[in-house]
Amino acid sequence: MRLIAVGLAAGAAVLLVALFVPWLPPVASKERERIDLVFWVTTGICIFVFAIVAGVSIYAVWKFRARPDDESDGPPIHGHTGLEIAWTAVPVVLVTTIAIVSAVALAKNGSYPSNTLQINVTAQQFAWTFQYPAYHNLTSSVLRLPIDRPVRLNLTSKDVIHSFWVPEFGQKQDALPYPEVTHVKVTATELTPTKSDWYPVICTELCGLGHAYMRSWAIVMPQAGFERWARGQGGQQGGGGGSAGASLFKTNGCGSCHTFKAASATGTVGPDLDKLSQYAKQAGKPLDAFVTQSITDPNAYVQPGYKPNVMPDFNLSSQQVAALVQYLTGKGS
Ligand code: CUA
Repeated sequence: MRLIAVGLAAGAAVLLVALFVPWLPPVASKERERIDLVFWVTTGICIFVFAIVAGVSIYAVWKFRARPDDESDGPPIHGHTGLEIAWTAVPVVLVTTIAIVSAVALAKNGSYPSNTLQINVTAQQFAWTFQYPAYHNLTSSVLRLPIDRPVRLNLTSKDVIHSFWVPEFGQKQDALPYPEVTHVKVTATELTPTKSDWYPVICTELCGLGHAYMRSWAIVMPQAGFERWARGQGGQQGGGGGSAGASLFKTNGCGSCHTFKAASATGTVGPDLDKLSQYAKQAGKPLDAFVTQSITDPNAYVQPGYKPNVMPDFNLSSQQVAALVQYLTGKGS
């Protein structure tokens, strides 16, 4: 009895630490709520079992240790039917509980209603592109989502395996290239955002030099605001302060590949943007024209030491390109 009391007390203490310390990022989707439920049911069971086993072991080692003058053998103990039934039956119940809770969460997270917003997600080294077929194939390098509306992300990759992850949403899904090899054209994941905010979109599959910087933003917005943005064909892409050029730089993930002091960017995949005037001279072009061309037709001139065909097509409007050029040439900080 005392053994069990020690075990339960230890279990309760560990459980309090587990539950009252915020270990996980904030919850921002319905799917994440279900995933967290599975996580905590499983973790709770593990803590419960571990605490009993550890508590009993520690207590037994202390209570029944051999005294210095004790040279006698221990009592010959063999089997205990009651205990054996208990330690078989209890785990069966616990494991079955985990299986049922997981299956229900998985099934619910994988089903989506007919009004689901479809978004095509293209991954490439080292950027994300989000396309909205329901809004004239509007494309954006930032994932804008209406709050409380189910969304289905259809993922593809242009080069290697990438993986889409927003910790606050819980869902994670690989994007695969070469459908003729992998026999998978599109992978998909569903989510229903529940809180308006900015969340990091993270590539969670090692995909090359710029992997750690392959980031974007998921912006959850009120439904009306989302409609306005989507029908207005993007327009202001960024937000978050600063000039249009600065926010375009941020939201398009330019810093994933480039170094640029004004943006505190330190990428090394592409040319150093603090040296643009030097590059322009080497290319024999006026600075503005050189920077514009480098964004819209990156392969026209490739700075020696860097690879061609690496810079993605960002689908920017001419105003957006102009804003970026202004920002990059230091005329509109
Ligand atoms: Cu893309 Cu890691």
